Amino acid sequence: MRYSIPLSYNPINVPRLAEVLNRYEGVHHNQIITDFESAMCSVTGSPFAVALNSGTAAIHLALKILGVGADDYVIAPTFTYVATINPILYLGARPVLVDSEATTWNMDPDAVEEAILKLKNEGKRPKVMVLVHTYGMPCQLDRLLAIARREGLRVLEDAAESLGSTYRGQMVGTFGDVGIYSFNNNKVVTTYGGGILITKSPEWASKVRFLANQAREDLPYYEHRAMGYNYAMGSLNAAAGMSQLIDLQENVAKRRSIFNLYKGLLGMESHDEIPGAYSNRWFSTFLFPNEATRNRVTSLLEANTIETRPLWRPMHDQPVFHGVHSITNGHANHLFKHGICLPSGQSLTPTQVEMVAALIKA
Ligand SMILES: Cc1ncc(COP(=O)(O)O)c(C=O)c1O
Repeated sequence: MRYSIPLSYNPINVPRLAEVLNRYEGVHHNQIITDFESAMCSVTGSPFAVALNSGTAAIHLALKILGVGADDYVIAPTFTYVATINPILYLGARPVLVDSEATTWNMDPDAVEEAILKLKNEGKRPKVMVLVHTYGMPCQLDRLLAIARREGLRVLEDAAESLGSTYRGQMVGTFGDVGIYSFNNNKVVTTYGGGILITKSPEWASKVRFLANQAREDLPYYEHRAMGYNYAMGSLNAAAGMSQLIDLQENVAKRRSIFNLYKGLLGMESHDEIPGAYSNRWFSTFLFPNEATRNRVTSLLEANTIETRPLWRPMHDQPVFHGVHSITNGHANHLFKHGICLPSGQSLTPTQVEMVAALIKA
């Protein structure tokens, strides 16, 4: 079905893309990727970046270079997109799914403490903590990073949804040992499929680049001493990224104003920024007082060709993760039952937002 108002649509700015491609005429196409990586380093303040063909690939390689292997425990939020968790399974490791807190909807530090204690009581300790800033909302970074430091855990920031969000003026994605962003079609900046890994470690960056290119040794012939992946970003994707990255701040400002407009018109509950946090408001998300009203509104908007989504169904309830360790407090389930993602793309007009809000109120 074609929606008259899609959830988050990034039209291709053809003249802008052509302008980028024209700049590289006669230059080796790999230069576009290198330049996109440099641009991402400037934007995030991270010294190293490796462009990949998805955010999921970036999470997979990030976990790998952080030393995650078979039977290692990885703490991660239950309230997230499946791509946060699947790569843990690719490595034969064990996710420990942790519930949310009420303010940001991200991983609850108290529940993380509980998860670590529970593992300790079983004589186990986790290796890595994965932080997610869901829907672009920065998580409780101070407390979560303090727990990770105290416990000697490596931190992977899955900032897939949160390019442009900051905490105390610093880009989220740069707080952990490794960070990743996604550039898939619905993100604040898209490469129409792609992701990137950022890190302060030159060794990790070059290891990721090596693994993403089939672990090919630097020799005149094809030699492979390790198992690799075909995860590198394509040049045309990087060109699309270059054509959009300059709009990052403007796109974030637009998404924030869309959220504020909905909030003013509807007065509904959403998640909030903790002091010092600035969210890119990737998606405008709200809670209804009950599930039945949410479902009625969803059907009404669907009938008017307006695209919405329920909030994430928690990972601990997903059949594919049946039986994995989890620490739950009911928050993520509450969010799934009551929540909605409203159209949030930066190309939305105030009139469209008002129309959506009027239908919800009706
Ligand atoms: C939290 C989160 N992690 C990871 C990903 C995976 O990114 P990709 O779709 O580029 O593989 C996404 C994608 O939307 C995401 O929302």
